[in-house]
Amino acid sequence: MRASEKMAIQNFWYKNAIIYSLDVETFMDSNGDGVGDFPGLTQRLDYLAGLGITCLWLHPFYPSPNRDDGYDVMDYYNVDSRLGTLGDFVEFMHEAKARGIGVLIDLVVNHTSIQHPWFQSARRDQASKYRDYYIWSDNPPQSDPAEIIFPDEEDSLWEYDEQADAYYLHHFYKEQPDLNISNPVVRDEIRKIIHFWLALGVAGFRVDAVPHFFDNIEVLAEQYQLDSFLEDMREAVSSRSSEAVLLAEANVESEAFATYFGEGDRMHMLFSFFANQKKFLALAQKQAAPLAEGLQQLPEIPRSCQWLNFVRHHDELTLDQLSEAERGKIYEAFAPEEHMQIFGRGVRRRLPPMLNGDRRRIELVYSLLFALPGIPLIRYGDEIGMGDDLSLPGRDSVRTPMQWSEKPNGGFSTAAPEHHSKSVISSGEYGYQKVNVTAQQRDADSLLNWFDQIIRIRKQHPEIGWGKWKIIETDQPSVFAHCCEWKNKAVLTVHNLSEQACTVTLKSDAYDHLIDLFGDRPYKSSQHLQPISLQSYGYRWFRVEQ
Ligand code: NOJ
Repeated sequence: MRASEKMAIQNFWYKNAIIYSLDVETFMDSNGDGVGDFPGLTQRLDYLAGLGITCLWLHPFYPSPNRDDGYDVMDYYNVDSRLGTLGDFVEFMHEAKARGIGVLIDLVVNHTSIQHPWFQSARRDQASKYRDYYIWSDNPPQSDPAEIIFPDEEDSLWEYDEQADAYYLHHFYKEQPDLNISNPVVRDEIRKIIHFWLALGVAGFRVDAVPHFFDNIEVLAEQYQLDSFLEDMREAVSSRSSEAVLLAEANVESEAFATYFGEGDRMHMLFSFFANQKKFLALAQKQAAPLAEGLQQLPEIPRSCQWLNFVRHHDELTLDQLSEAERGKIYEAFAPEEHMQIFGRGVRRRLPPMLNGDRRRIELVYSLLFALPGIPLIRYGDEIGMGDDLSLPGRDSVRTPMQWSEKPNGGFSTAAPEHHSKSVISSGEYGYQKVNVTAQQRDADSLLNWFDQIIRIRKQHPEIGWGKWKIIETDQPSVFAHCCEWKNKAVLTVHNLSEQACTVTLKSDAYDHLIDLFGDRPYKSSQHLQPISLQSYGYRWFRVEQ
């Protein structure tokens, strides 16, 4: 049976999920060895449930030499012993389920670690059954620099391996050889991995590096390409679970989205990389137009599919789909110094330092995150306004441990700092002494309490996840206004991207009766609100009375 035939029994929980991403290694250390672990995460589930999130996305927790922070997997069927055991994982799953929290895990199958036993056997022995698990060449073509993903550290997509006496393909670090997904046996392995974790109760997979699956691979049969593989993966998931979903990491141009969603029979969700880049351009220019244009370029997607909106995640804020000049504007506004930038295409900072800690702007950006069509992704620490540590190399700057309290190491671990696998931010404006959960819980005006509120408001408006959305023209270029409508209910939001306070008139008479729901401050409201007043970087959410 094809996946499309299973669509009728898909559970649509993800259409209005609140997703929270974290790395077990940097969340909570339960045994004082300096490394976060599954028992630590399990202890913090009540905090997450209290915040109102409905789904977790866990970064890779598999055994790994950690050349790429776990995105180099040595064993797909186990838990890195530093983070706990498979038993700890099962306990964690039970407790998450008891709190109604679904768990997405990373599926990293574009490549393995160079230390995976498959690669070890493949390189040693040409006759190994694993040789064709990877992509070899005696004479690889010259690599196109535009295709090199980590240009700061790699200069080719092909690496010569002495033992194998051949070159192997690697899109990412050379310690991450690409799997040969055109080999049906490899596809069988991937199906088994999916089935294994579904059997342990996960709610689905964040699928890593999807656009590279068939890149540079000579596909055996013309008809078996990325689209067929995406349908096969979907079938592997949907044949075992009507709830589980696939969330693809695919930073591609808008014309390519259809390949990933298919007719609702491929990926359930995509990260909104494209709209996110346009959003940052709009924020840098303090003009609504780039965001509106970005959203307007999104195709209509099948009813069962969804966009995952985000502000920042564990990688760089990539700006690769913008022009050089547009990227320059974002750098100038948010990452003016070279060490704040990375890979010639992105920013390696968290949001609050990008905005000089300006609470009004931080709220504005997250209010947009919750209001835009799709569902929101919160990254651990966003809810307390954690900062970055630019003294750390590369993307490690935004991967520092969670800051729980004023206790040593921010309450993350009792181990001495020299034993921490990742160091806590322990000084300055973003040090744990100033930015932590405990202090913000005591403060009614804290960012943490603001997140509580906006999550509650977002949950009351399923029209944002399900509805038809419309961008509304206004008489103020700095104001982004849009409305989401579903089942005769509608929510309208206005966001002022500029520091100039203003009054804004919507160029439509369909919205005469607006009821205040939420905003950056209590505004004087009435039944007929137009023109709408907005403070500097102000935002307002309204229910539309039909
Ligand atoms: C995308 C992940 O988000 C990133 O952290 C990783 O380096 C690459 N894929 C390779 O797995």
